[in-house]
Amino acid sequence: MWKILIFLCLIYVNYASDTPVIGILSQEMYIVAKYFPGEHYESFIAASYVKFLESAGAKVVPVWIGQSDEYYQRVVNYTNGILFPGGGTYFNETGGYGQSAKTIYHLAMKNNDRNIYYPLWGICMGFQVLIFAQKGIDLRTDCSLKKVALPLDFTEGYESSDLFSKAPREILRILGTKNVTYNQHQYCLTEEVLNNNGVLTDWNILSTNRDASNVEFISTMENRKYPFYGVQYHPEKNIFEFKDGVGIPHTIEAVQVSQFFANFFVNKCRKNNNTFPDEQTEMNSLIYNYNPVYTAPRKSSYQQIYVFTKDDYEKSPLV
Ligand SMILES: *[C@@H]1O[C@H](CO)[C@@H](O)[C@H](O)[C@H]1NC(C)=O
Ligand SMILES: *[C@@H]1O[C@H](CO)[C@@H](O)[C@H](O)[C@H]1NC(C)=O
Ligand SMILES: *[C@@H]1O[C@H](CO)[C@@H](O)[C@H](O)[C@H]1NC(C)=O
Repeated sequence: MWKILIFLCLIYVNYASDTPVIGILSQEMYIVAKYFPGEHYESFIAASYVKFLESAGAKVVPVWIGQSDEYYQRVVNYTNGILFPGGGTYFNETGGYGQSAKTIYHLAMKNNDRNIYYPLWGICMGFQVLIFAQKGIDLRTDCSLKKVALPLDFTEGYESSDLFSKAPREILRILGTKNVTYNQHQYCLTEEVLNNNGVLTDWNILSTNRDASNVEFISTMENRKYPFYGVQYHPEKNIFEFKDGVGIPHTIEAVQVSQFFANFFVNKCRKNNNTFPDEQTEMNSLIYNYNPVYTAPRKSSYQQIYVFTKDDYEKSPLV
């Protein structure tokens, strides 16, 4: 009898890891509040990040900002990885995006140190917050690149990185030669600043680019020790954001590289065996409990946005 039980457990574990559940950290309303006049929300997630993960086979859990340490422990214990999305907010605000990212980052480190493989992925501001979360100080440099799609300038040895070593040659050719990585940022991370602050030893820089005033910034990096990855550009926009006139690339090649990144990260999350304590808790935590608002007609650069109220926070079984 016990043999059958163990067998069933193994099947359950394997099944669970093929259907990863990934958290996306929400953020303060600052940059989108104007699209919701007279309404009050605690935080938002642009729907393109949700679709980005869903497109590669994941289920998504929205993760609130400003919660207790136990909340973030539950989030990390029950999910298979976390995405820090882009957007715009401050890192040092009490109970904000930066602090929440920092708590999650240290829990993720602790898990990996205990041999529980737990991946993180950062995009744009979420890429920059990886360093804030690690170091506790904001090491961003003013350096602006808006509405520009570029090929990556790969660093020497990028082919042997975790992120790119198994990438199809065609994807690497496109990434290195075509305008497929979309930049929309007013800060960046530079090799010099990371080096001066002693964090460069933890990260492998895989590509760089230059901003409008020729400042070289890091565009792709991965952690040397942990399955933590960051990109300054926006793969999710190539496939899920459609504002006219802002230069988002939508060619088949731009779509293919975005799908490569989505598949890469979600597949990393398949290696984690965490599960929710029961099906009901998982169901009540998933993004399917919320409806995105169609915000493109309100002139937002996001097609759709999920907004969350205090009530939503309190209804979540993880709080
Ligand atoms: C999360 O998992 C760790 C390690 O197994 C455990 O010590 C901790 O109590 C758990 N926390 C919560 C809130 O579930
Ligand atoms: C996850 O579970 C599978 C199947 O039981 C096992 O082979 C693998 O070692 C586990 N991975 C981790 C990182 O715990
Ligand atoms: C790629 O983008 C750069 C910067 O905007 C531009 O100068 C260049 O002409 C573009 N190349 C192609 C092939 O569109």
